[in-house]
Amino acid sequence: MPYAHITGWGMSIPQKILTNDDLAKMVDTNDAWIQERTGIRERHIAAENQSTASLGAEAALHALRVANLAPTEIDLIICSTSSPEHTFPATACLIQDAIGATRAGAFDLSAACSGFIFAVNMGAQTIKTGSAKNVLVIGAETLSRFVDWNDRNICILFGDGAGAFVLQASDRPGGVISSVMRSDGSGSDLLSLPAGGSKHPASEITVHTGMHFIHMDGKEVFRFATRVMAQATIEVAEKAGWKTADLALIIPHQANRRIIDAAARGLKLPMEKFMVNVERYGNTSTASIPIATVEAVQQGRLKPGDKVVMVGFGAGLTWGALAAEWSGPISTERKLAPEWYAWFAPARSLVRRAIRLLEGLFFGRKS
Ligand code: ACO
Repeated sequence: MPYAHITGWGMSIPQKILTNDDLAKMVDTNDAWIQERTGIRERHIAAENQSTASLGAEAALHALRVANLAPTEIDLIICSTSSPEHTFPATACLIQDAIGATRAGAFDLSAACSGFIFAVNMGAQTIKTGSAKNVLVIGAETLSRFVDWNDRNICILFGDGAGAFVLQASDRPGGVISSVMRSDGSGSDLLSLPAGGSKHPASEITVHTGMHFIHMDGKEVFRFATRVMAQATIEVAEKAGWKTADLALIIPHQANRRIIDAAARGLKLPMEKFMVNVERYGNTSTASIPIATVEAVQQGRLKPGDKVVMVGFGAGLTWGALAAEWSGPISTERKLAPEWYAWFAPARSLVRRAIRLLEGLFFGRKS
């Protein structure tokens, strides 16, 4: 059975920064309160011409470049997101087209902030069963579009961004070793975006009552998060046959600095073992773990052979963890830059649309 290695990683962050002081001009809050209760100093907000797919595509291209892989070599794309471009088609399909991954199947996965853990696990299982060799996993969000900017309980927390991993098959031992995926739907009302789905389709009432915004019982989510983070980390390490003391790094979902502190206390591990960057990005939901991973590599905190656990929690309720032996690129063969494929995407799209039109004209009438 092949191993599923993490061989590429990338991130994309919008340029625009919204500081706590900026927020204090919008709602009744202040920098001291936000920093003390959450650890967040600033977050990035997508520009009008940016979207979940465009951020996801950019992160994906960076990851492909690290892995020395062309988009056309990708077999499967999984995009985890809670802020998809549309109910359908899947955001993964838009990314597939944008980067020119013409051979790939693509679908979205919805598990809120735990989504990236679930998606990497799904990608790794696909590789381990032999049905794919190269898988692109993306976590992308523009939750700023679903935040009520008059609600100080919510608007201080979230930011936009995307991260991506390339997973590749190899006979060399390592890569994704074990995983934990859990859900408790009885807590579905604790964190939700009530309208826009089939239960509450868009209507004047849903818009007027703010049902298209994120709703959250912060205290309950906090309690749940502090309980499951340490539990899932211990469980996934045990499954891998490791002790938590063996871990070089833990990369937790970046929602609130105090939740990470509590997990460290629960695990009796020093904070140096935890990657934390919530102060600069806020909660980017499913994108937070890959973004933190990219920065951990950039800072030299994650090296080939290191044992790492990634652990997340979120709406659903969902939580999960992943134990991996860090790999690095398998292929060193230099390829045409993945961006080239992306540059030709609009032309390729146009040609495909034209072919569909011609097929319709010439063959459609016969049927
Ligand atoms: N600025 C100033 N005061 C505020 C603000 C603010 N931005 N927000 C709330 N307050 C006030 C409240 O109104 C309350 O005032 P009161 O006592 O007069 O009623 C007081 O501060 C305390 O409010 P709490 O809600 O008790 O504050 P708490 O310490 O619980 O912190 C927080 C709130 C930061 C939201 C915390 O509960 C939390 O982080 N929860 C977890 C949230 C989370 O991680 N969500 C993401 C999950 S992942 C996903 O799937 C998207």
